[in-house]
Amino acid sequence: MPTPRSLTTAPHRDFDLEVVAGEWPADISGEVTYSSPQNLGGLPYRIFDWGSICRLSLEPGTRGAAPGRFRWQSVSIETPGKRLWNRHPEAFGGSPIGYTSPFGSANCANTATLPWGNRLYATWDAGRPVELHPETMEFVSEVGHVDSWGGSSMELGGVLPFLFSSAHPVADPERHCLWTVKLEPVIEPTFGMRPSLVRYDRHDGTQVRHWPLEGISFSGSIHTVSQTRDWVILCDSGNFKADADEMFGGERTTTIDETVPVWLIRKDAVEGLASGTPITPVCFTMSPPNGHYYARWDDSDGVSVVWEGMDLMDLALYLRPDDVDVNGNPVDPAAVGLYNMAMAPETLVEVVFEPETGKVLERGLFKEDWTFNLQLSAMDWSVEGMTNPTLHHVTYQGCRPGSISARAARMYEGRIDLDQLREETPGALCSFERGSMELKARWEYPDTADHITSPAFAPRAVGATAGSSAFAGRSPGGHEGYVIQPVCNDDGLRIEVFDASRVGDGPVAVLKGTNNETIPLILHAAWGPSHHELADADRLRFSAEVNDETLASVPEELRGSVREVAEELDRLW
Ligand SMILES: [Fe+2]
Repeated sequence: MPTPRSLTTAPHRDFDLEVVAGEWPADISGEVTYSSPQNLGGLPYRIFDWGSICRLSLEPGTRGAAPGRFRWQSVSIETPGKRLWNRHPEAFGGSPIGYTSPFGSANCANTATLPWGNRLYATWDAGRPVELHPETMEFVSEVGHVDSWGGSSMELGGVLPFLFSSAHPVADPERHCLWTVKLEPVIEPTFGMRPSLVRYDRHDGTQVRHWPLEGISFSGSIHTVSQTRDWVILCDSGNFKADADEMFGGERTTTIDETVPVWLIRKDAVEGLASGTPITPVCFTMSPPNGHYYARWDDSDGVSVVWEGMDLMDLALYLRPDDVDVNGNPVDPAAVGLYNMAMAPETLVEVVFEPETGKVLERGLFKEDWTFNLQLSAMDWSVEGMTNPTLHHVTYQGCRPGSISARAARMYEGRIDLDQLREETPGALCSFERGSMELKARWEYPDTADHITSPAFAPRAVGATAGSSAFAGRSPGGHEGYVIQPVCNDDGLRIEVFDASRVGDGPVAVLKGTNNETIPLILHAAWGPSHHELADADRLRFSAEVNDETLASVPEELRGSVREVAEELDRLW
């Protein structure tokens, strides 16, 4: 089976689910939010399309569900760019890296959701974090006036600045800020992107502060930001490379790296430091390239990081209508525009970065023939859980030759073993011990029509322990709670709920849509407690960035719509 056709054909909609197997746990609470690119613009690469946020309530009868049922909701994120697209879709073009427009660089906010205390954000790599209303999930604001970011990453004109950032800012529970990045092209020391560390303080969304990393230039992107109590950890993800030929209509030839640079910055180093002042990071090299990495909060005995390798997973490659797969079969039309899947098994490794010596020490590593398409993971994000992480839950989607193009295989000739890519293999949800990366549990999905995706960890008995933080359950770390595992299948979405300490025993409860509804492609998942009110804070208004100067580069006949959107957003809050 190829990946489910519903990943690209299912509509975004609200529906109810019901328990079809097992028993729903009484000590589960909150909700899981998911990011999802919509299929609206006919972009060649669908993961760049306008974002929706989806929400699954884990408490029956809430968020509009019938009694005893569970609600799935989907809301389009109406950023200023999306509102302009609604009015003038014909003014937007499509490139292999998303929309182009005379309005500037639209924020699609389609990659990850970030519950931060009682606030909710949606993020992506090519724009600022976007705050959403915790009740309605409607767009509220983007984070930080462009001037406070030090200007656009590249001056592309228009009223929508281009801020090349990270899809995974990280929330600092002690400093009450978000840490993220801005990338901008430089010619020194080499032609490439220079990262800046960016800090957004919780109370004031009208501005951020930024500090360029002195002497650093690389060709890639920073998809993830991680942290310990004292350090921010940045790295070149290594698996998404811009290709100039491709951007101008030619063939992509660029391939991903085998090693990537990593930068550590002491949080204290920017305390009180004027925004814009260069800082010097501590530099390391890591392998393989990664999608995501997560540091233990406690760094008293080293900066310990679980590194989710994306070995030979080139995220810049997508399936085209004229592609054949590695077995010579035409690619399923419903898979066109989705990403080219992993071409090798993937490595999970925990390492310790030693800032004093510059060494990287390996604590534990896991890689088997079946560890294809390490998609995403689930962990306990409470500060207590991050301090003493116990289990790290990983979703492997299995090998999918139907989603690996022969074109990609040719590009990676000599780096891949084609014999390993001939057959589909089952997906599996696995639990690893933090530190040793020992496999503690594995639940296999032998039906390859099951596409397992985007897991989240929901702690058990949240709020039951006096003095614990808002996201903490009874026994934090990743073992005491539930793994919420969506299973996409053309016969209907299933939400499988596992006891996190016994994933190998299979789900304890399964939800299914009352009409066997399917869902489109979802990207990241995040668990959080339920909130209803918009927090009191200063926020950026779109109108603050619309002025005579920015409007001057927008064609005259479109300026009225810009003013209209600015007024519409001014009335939101
Ligand atoms: Fe991600």
